[in-house]
Amino acid sequence: MATIAVYSLKGGVGKTTLTVNLAWASAIRSARRTLLWDLDPQAAATFLLGGDEAGRHQAQAIFSKDVAAARLLRATAIDRLALLPADTSLRQLDHLFHALDKKKRLSKLLDDLAEDFDRILLDCPPGLTETSEQVMRAADLIVVPVVPSPLSQRAFQEVAAHLAQRGAKVPLMPVHAMVDRRRKLHAEALERQPDWPVIPMASVIESVAVQRAPVGAFAPRSAAANAFNEVWQAIERSLAARVR
Ligand SMILES: Nc1ncnc2c1ncn2[C@@H]1O[C@H](COP(=O)(O)OP(=O)(O)OP(=O)(O)O)[C@@H](O)[C@H]1O
Ligand SMILES: [Mg+2]
Repeated sequence: MATIAVYSLKGGVGKTTLTVNLAWASAIRSARRTLLWDLDPQAAATFLLGGDEAGRHQAQAIFSKDVAAARLLRATAIDRLALLPADTSLRQLDHLFHALDKKKRLSKLLDDLAEDFDRILLDCPPGLTETSEQVMRAADLIVVPVVPSPLSQRAFQEVAAHLAQRGAKVPLMPVHAMVDRRRKLHAEALERQPDWPVIPMASVIESVAVQRAPVGAFAPRSAAANAFNEVWQAIERSLAARVR
């Protein structure tokens, strides 16, 4: 089992959209038993995968060990893709991690799921928080969407510096997100970092939130679906290189 976190210090850069589409690629293209664990109280990934946790208040109980993760697992409309849904109880997650003082709680909970899944994707809330510290300790790879803008690039550098300072060994995979090649700033950013995968700004990606399904499920031959698949392949290559 490998854990892939989709994380950024910055909000609104396309983390949730990327996570949901990578989870589809993992389950369908790579035929992996896949779990998407929604760690964000906004529960956007949960919504995109058809979940509805309105009125529920259980997601946080996994972390206090009052409820077993297995009890909250949901099937999705996508073969081999399960969901651990978020709800508003996760608003308290940073406080809970702080109070518990168990630095590896998330890591241990993931170990417990390792028999049932090949790939676990974490959709993370933005910010440098107790939750992100747990994620950085637990993940095998951290995928960071970077919009070609100075603020987004700065946020990426800060995360890289933070990990280096902690002596963390987890690799970061930056991905150019929401790219519009007609924009000068975007074209220049792609030239500076030609090796980073690229997710285009596209209306078919925006409609993920309308369809409540990954692009692969309703537009499998689109350029956008291809772009997500290519990021997924890069992730698989990175994980394979790690175990060798
Ligand atoms: N490549 C894209 N092309 C067009 N629209 C996109 C793209 N990626 C994301 N969006 C849209 O941008 C908005 C923000 O995306 P998303 O929710 O995935 O970001 P996020 O980083 O998860 O945000 P948050 O920090 O709030 O969790 C959404 O409305 C989404 O539909
Ligand atoms: Mg999000």
